[in-house]
Amino acid sequence: MKEFAANAQDTSRPIRIGIAGLGTVGAALIRILEEDGAAIAKKLGRPLIVSAVSARSRSRDRGIDISNIDWYDDPVALAKSEDIDLFVELIGGEDGPAYAAITAALERGCPVVTANKALLARHGVALAHMAEKHEAQLGFEAAVAGGIPVIKTLREGLGSAAITRVYGIMNGTCNYILTRMGNEGIDFESCLKDAQELGYAEADPTFDIEGFDTAHKLAILTTLCFETEIAADQVFVEGISRITQADIKVAADLGYKIKLLGMARQTPDGIEQRVHPTLVPAKSSIAGVDGVLNAIALETNHVQELLLAGPGAGGQATAASVLSDILDIARGTRVPPLGVPSAELAKCERAPMRVHEGGYYIRLNAKDVPGALAAIATRMGESNISLESVIQRPDLHATEPGVEPESSRTVVLITHETIESAVRDALARIDKDGFIVGQPQLIRIEEF
Ligand SMILES: NC(=O)c1ccc[n+]([C@@H]2O[C@H](COP(=O)([O-])OP(=O)(O)OC[C@H]3O[C@@H](n4cnc5c(N)ncnc54)[C@H](OP(=O)(O)O)[C@@H]3O)[C@@H](O)[C@H]2O)c1
Repeated sequence: MKEFAANAQDTSRPIRIGIAGLGTVGAALIRILEEDGAAIAKKLGRPLIVSAVSARSRSRDRGIDISNIDWYDDPVALAKSEDIDLFVELIGGEDGPAYAAITAALERGCPVVTANKALLARHGVALAHMAEKHEAQLGFEAAVAGGIPVIKTLREGLGSAAITRVYGIMNGTCNYILTRMGNEGIDFESCLKDAQELGYAEADPTFDIEGFDTAHKLAILTTLCFETEIAADQVFVEGISRITQADIKVAADLGYKIKLLGMARQTPDGIEQRVHPTLVPAKSSIAGVDGVLNAIALETNHVQELLLAGPGAGGQATAASVLSDILDIARGTRVPPLGVPSAELAKCERAPMRVHEGGYYIRLNAKDVPGALAAIATRMGESNISLESVIQRPDLHATEPGVEPESSRTVVLITHETIESAVRDALARIDKDGFIVGQPQLIRIEEF
């Protein structure tokens, strides 16, 4: 903080930033800083210059001119350089050079801005502690929902309002796939392939489609909402890879859309953090957030529901959030990185998923034998589950491997509000009875 404070007071000097990582976000940031340099200087009352950069390849064409900017092969050396006032980490990865460089900068009191959710989900509390100890600011607006200013809203925008629940669509890849499945009747695999061809999904899409990326972002939001330590390993996670056209069609007929939601709230049993495909009313605001867009809803005691929607990724939108952190730090805004001092964060006590209460969509492949449906209904009743509807339609053919459509019938059960453990028990007993084939599909319903 010392060098930065000294320089920050000397408004005749530009603020010098060092950027490690010149990929999608880093290159976009340099482009914005070039194009908007005059407007930024006007806002700040002094120029903001990129004085040094680091990446792996010095010769790679990035569509930006870095010929007049100092080059560092080693991002840690850049973070330690006395010639920068603010360090921007855009390398990625939860450990390795990103972590080494951020800690090197913070330890010398140099403010840091990062877009790295994986690193924050793992080391966020320790980094916040380090930043506080060395009086350095740590900005990470771009780490959650790319271009949406949700971190600033939570840290600074809500006054003393207490958050009662946070939920949202935090992964554009999943939202793109589910939107196309819903609008065009295409199966999951084809949508994923298109998403990969369009650059919305990675070659290995597991991290996105199985919900882990959403879990990282949710864990960071949970901390800011409920003043608990980041606990990314305590998020219940289910992805979207088992969603079929049958699920999408039945949901639509019942007035719902399927979205991959991340949700967190404080319950009497602890903090509930969950990521899973969810049936949401088609008329709800969150259901209207389609394609690659993200949205985060904050329910609070003072402002009721606040919905922030916009681009969750992409170089330009993400770089805009990085720049907003840079400007805040350059102006001297001082806030604890995680909303409250890190020493005041409580342990995150996990509410077990088995006590979750809600409605359920259950799709089963019942064997086409007498008594199968009656046995299934009986098991549900024994677990005190009341069924709102039982749907059996000829167009809902099973598509799972090993399930013969000729000898089984696809049945969808919609339950009234019940407890997760009751549903799990009933399904285990139905499976044991031998009246179903394949794995049941279970999707939770939220009424917003
Ligand atoms: N892309 C998005 O839409 C988005 C959205 C939100 C958050 N983020 C986050 O933003 C960060 C950057 O993402 P990105 O998409 O811009 O990544 P990217 O395109 O893969 O770029 C990574 C950059 O880091 C550089 N790099 C890798 N290892 C390095 C090392 N050891 N030393 C110095 N530089 C190194 C690479 O250098 P070379 O170019 O020479 O290989 C590259 O320029 C990640 O934390 C990501 O999660 C991205």
